[in-house]
Amino acid sequence: MEVVSDLAGWRERCDDARHRELCVGLVPTMGALHAGHRSLMAAARAQCDVVVVSIFVNPLQFTDARDLENYPQTLEADLALCEAAGVDVVVTPRREEMWPVGHATLTLDGELTRMLEGRDRPGHFDGVATVVDKLFDLTGPCCAFFGEKDFQQLAVVRQLIAAHELPVTLVGCPIVRESDGLALSSRNVRLSAEGRRKALSLSVALRLAASTTFDTVGELRHALAEVMSSAGVVVHYVSVVDEESWSEVPDFAVPFGRVLIAGTVDGVRVIDNGPLGMKGRTSAARN
Ligand code: PAF
Repeated sequence: MEVVSDLAGWRERCDDARHRELCVGLVPTMGALHAGHRSLMAAARAQCDVVVVSIFVNPLQFTDARDLENYPQTLEADLALCEAAGVDVVVTPRREEMWPVGHATLTLDGELTRMLEGRDRPGHFDGVATVVDKLFDLTGPCCAFFGEKDFQQLAVVRQLIAAHELPVTLVGCPIVRESDGLALSSRNVRLSAEGRRKALSLSVALRLAASTTFDTVGELRHALAEVMSSAGVVVHYVSVVDEESWSEVPDFAVPFGRVLIAGTVDGVRVIDNGPLGMKGRTSAARN
């Protein structure tokens, strides 16, 4: 496994692979790697010839300076995980090279980037789009692997690729959960044991959404918010959207509804999502 930190070296490795007619798979990360990232690497390993993992904590997408300061950094362990996952190249760019003084930030238009995470963290998706666009540019034509845990981010990246006609095939990979249901996240290490117990209520709420028949979407949202707040989570949103249009679902007559939830526990933002499976339409039946 090679570790490359200069941008020219990154470009060169990927260009070289394509000259040899090899397919490049990119797994973009901010480090603090866990089994969720490992599953992205496994998908990339299975589908591509050369697997590139980027590790870069992108300051542009943080809307809270303390969140950026406290973001876990575990490079040595990350490299060991990449090596064990059979990664070919890890790129660890320097902040000054990625964002030289005076660099531009992409500004995204449209409701998708202003709702939910975008509403609570204004500018967050501009920061994500700016860095992802740069990661794609440095990597060149590739398959890119993103987790469904950040479901809205995945949709924003899909939109970015379509709008700019980028030569990237986007692969969304399922959420990886601990055995009790907690969705894996790099920020989980900042939760106390008590905070972890509270955060577990997000997956409990999603299971309720998938298993219970509610009369109205309002009732469902209320019940899920109640599960989370009674566990001690400060609830930011419980939203049910149409996966295609991203409009709020007024009733259950949508083929592909997604439940997205977010809250804060111990000062740590926690998010999760799952398919809307109710009124006899389980997620399995809809697949
Ligand atoms: O999902 C993440 O880890 C980040 O948002 C990403 C896609 C690596 C961009 O910094």
